[in-house]
Amino acid sequence: MSADADAGATQTPFERLGGEAGVRALVDRFYDLMDLEPVYAGIRQLHPATLDGSRDKLFWFLCGWLGGPSHYIERYGHPRLRARHLPYAIGIAERDQWMACMIQAMEECAVDPAMAQRLAESFFGTADWMRNKGG
Ligand code: HEM
Repeated sequence: MSADADAGATQTPFERLGGEAGVRALVDRFYDLMDLEPVYAGIRQLHPATLDGSRDKLFWFLCGWLGGPSHYIERYGHPRLRARHLPYAIGIAERDQWMACMIQAMEECAVDPAMAQRLAESFFGTADWMRNKGG
């Protein structure tokens, strides 16, 4: 699924977020919140002790997913996101924590509310598809 299929828009979501600097700020806020907020502890504990690698990978991935440069694919090939998430037990609770963390990050980064709403719908499709356990 891609977030750049907004027919008629003159700018990609990547451009509207402020290009690489804007996407990086969003990813950094997302992982800062995951680290800081007890409500996201469930998904934080699925991640490595240091989030540096996670930050880079999500940043590279989102640049392409939002209609910008294909940094992730250049490094790792096809994302195969569902397969890459199989080592982590992801159910409804984990999906919903991921979504809440991303929505909070978008709010705190002052992403335009209409675009944040559209992106949240696209993120939800991907996050829901990542579920690999019941509950
Ligand atoms: C549904 C809840 C989700 C959980 C619990 C979750 C959790 C994780 C974890 C634990 C990792 C490994 C981090 C690391 O190796 O440093 C990871 C990697 C990754 N996640 Fe998620 N994730 C979720 C949803 C998503 C969504 C919705 C996206 C994209 C929109 C995404 C994109 C990525 C990417 C690009 C990677 C790096 C994959 C790699 O190259 O190894 N994740 N995720």
